[in-house]
Amino acid sequence: MYEDRSESVAPAMPAPLFNPSLPQHKPLQPGVSLQHLASHHITDDDLTLPDYLVKHYWWAYLWRPAVWFFDHQPIINAIVFGQYRKLTEATVRLLHPQQAGSTLMIASAYGDVITKTAKALGDNPLTVIDIAPIQLERAQAKLEKLGLDEHATVTRMNAESLAYPDNHFDTAFMFLLLHELPVPARRKALIEALRVVRPGGSLVLAEYGGFSETHPFHRLPLLRWVFGTAEPFLPSLWHTDLDTLLSECAEVTGKRVVCEDKVWLFGGFYRIWRYRVEQA
Ligand SMILES: C[S@@+](CC[C@H](N)C(=O)[O-])C[C@H]1O[C@@H](n2cnc3c(N)ncnc32)[C@H](O)[C@@H]1O
Repeated sequence: MYEDRSESVAPAMPAPLFNPSLPQHKPLQPGVSLQHLASHHITDDDLTLPDYLVKHYWWAYLWRPAVWFFDHQPIINAIVFGQYRKLTEATVRLLHPQQAGSTLMIASAYGDVITKTAKALGDNPLTVIDIAPIQLERAQAKLEKLGLDEHATVTRMNAESLAYPDNHFDTAFMFLLLHELPVPARRKALIEALRVVRPGGSLVLAEYGGFSETHPFHRLPLLRWVFGTAEPFLPSLWHTDLDTLLSECAEVTGKRVVCEDKVWLFGGFYRIWRYRVEQA
């Protein structure tokens, strides 16, 4: 269930709207480290909308008329050049939904990716976190509309500081989130994702592909300018070696990652990669 009695978020006023108690969706497992849980309570700071979101993406994710507009299947499909169905289907497939176990979606997203995932997961519980209340409202409404809310929980939380103990989830995924985060936030969000996935579990990332000299969307200076203006942190992701970044982040958590599946779409412009998480 998601409850928020606040009105729409004014982009210029990134104030926390409420402070939920620490969420605990399932009993702690034997062997789970309580260290993080004990030292990490959600504070008002944790629920403040991040600066990058307010400054660069208010028009896309926080402004109610835009949220309504973008959250239509044809619109979001056009934004990803007609690749939405392929992107979501590949993401769900790489989650191995029947065996996914307790699954965390790190940041909500437009379109039907949440309901598609919830449906595929069946009885496996899905938790969706997002920092923007308006996005959580939409996620909850979509799940309820299709009667998929029984096994789904929608919670306000910052991807950079998850309020879950180590190894709490079997699977986690991010759908087009990383390219919207500045480099330090990207690193923190990945470290947190890897921290909360248990050894033997998986992390799935649906993202833009790396920069290539041959893809027309990368080659054309005008298009590069458009992408870099609309998505100011995308160029840094284009030029990041994702495997190396994941390995560095895993090391911080005392784990390691093995990339087991790489799916490329649209000539490599998008990718969906699945990493197995292991104890180092
Ligand atoms: C995951 S991306 C998805 C973008 C993509 N264009 C789509 O909707 O298909 C956008 C979401 O990330 C959320 N978000 C951004 N930074 C976040 C953070 N640090 N913690 C949690 N959610 C965050 C935004 O509120 C927004 O709902």
